[in-house]
Amino acid sequence: MKLRPLTDELFRESCKRMPGGVSSPVRAFSGLNMTPLMVASGKADSVLDVDGHSYIDYCGAWGSLILGHSPPAVVHAAGEQIARGSSFGIATPYENAFAAKIMRHFPSMEKIRFVSSGTEAGMTVVRLARGFTGRSLIVKFNGHYHGHCDSLLIQAGSGVVHLPQASSQGVPHELIQHTVSLPFNDTDTCRRFLREHPDVAAVLVEPVAGNMGVVPAEKEFLQMLREETARSSALLIFDEVITGFRVSLNGAQGLYGITPDLTCLSKIIGGGFPAGAFGGRKEIMDTLAPLGSVYQAGTLSGNPVAMAAGYATITALEQSGFYSVLEEKTRSLTDPIEEFIRTHQLNLCLNRVGSMFTLFFGVRQVKRKEDLHSLDLEQFQSFFHFLFERGIYISPSAYEASFVSSSHTQQHLIYTRDAILEFLKREYSR
Ligand SMILES: Cc1ncc(COP(=O)(O)O)c(C=O)c1O
Repeated sequence: MKLRPLTDELFRESCKRMPGGVSSPVRAFSGLNMTPLMVASGKADSVLDVDGHSYIDYCGAWGSLILGHSPPAVVHAAGEQIARGSSFGIATPYENAFAAKIMRHFPSMEKIRFVSSGTEAGMTVVRLARGFTGRSLIVKFNGHYHGHCDSLLIQAGSGVVHLPQASSQGVPHELIQHTVSLPFNDTDTCRRFLREHPDVAAVLVEPVAGNMGVVPAEKEFLQMLREETARSSALLIFDEVITGFRVSLNGAQGLYGITPDLTCLSKIIGGGFPAGAFGGRKEIMDTLAPLGSVYQAGTLSGNPVAMAAGYATITALEQSGFYSVLEEKTRSLTDPIEEFIRTHQLNLCLNRVGSMFTLFFGVRQVKRKEDLHSLDLEQFQSFFHFLFERGIYISPSAYEASFVSSSHTQQHLIYTRDAILEFLKREYSR
């Protein structure tokens, strides 16, 4: 085991000051039986911990850093903006320019509002859908996570994926009684439910789920959601906080060719800074204050530094061939692993969409949360430790996605591929 004396000491100190020593629970490496990573800095595809160990980073701020750490163009744009003023709480031209850029790639977003996180986007689209339709019932899917807004914390993914119903104490029953969570990718059950409940305000879905590991929607499933919501005048909301600008320049909606009524974005659009956005059909968006009576506000919303960093990031993604090169890179890592699993008929599987992937131990196929009952958490723990010891950092939970960025070098990808194959050979030849 790598010695990490400064990490251990700093974590002990942090635990005295912050619950669990962290600002967000999954960072605590719960279930991994080790002191979490304490990062001092990051450059391109790697992070350096406080003890001076380097790790190839496949978490990338949970999918935010599609260009890797501190890409020069983004650092430059953010720095210039800080010099001009880091926050005003006043309208700026930067929001407008960035809105236009996002909307070019997401034509379903006829209007947009910037917020500061994915949670805020999720929370607000729920209020907006209820305000616009005059209905209360929200449908989500088991294992999908839309941030920690009270009314969406049932059967949620990510850090609370293991909890059965309400995913948090402190959420009154009254607040979740208008939310129903259904099995993902179960077209018949969901169609039946939507036909029997014409009072649904909105269906909120991660089109490629990323919070129970990577689990893509089947196209027919999303098509059914589009048809049935249109039939009952419920709103279809795509939570593209992870997939927006990750799986393609046009998000998952571009990939599947399905147009939602509303979309949530965050992560990549902040270029490493806190930013989120939601948007959609003009008539829905215009029910927001100040035009309409659905209230939403934010002191730091549309923060100019985040807008500048986001703008520079999306400009880089617009370069021709960006996504095909990124997918090729990812496949150079994951294809040989998938091949190895297939050839040896191992009891695990790898799900990948574009540059996001998850290796699921103990299951041969994952299409929905219910397939994760027999997930082998112990084996994931050994896998995580094995890679960590070799200077490779994947997302620290069996229920999360890992991400390849454009800054990952071929040398690092090959090194990672070989380490994973070595682990599989060791585990499965016993
Ligand atoms: C799909 C999805 N929606 C919403 C959120 C919440 O975003 P944030 O953590 O920025 O509040 C996340 C966070 O990982 C997410 O993956």
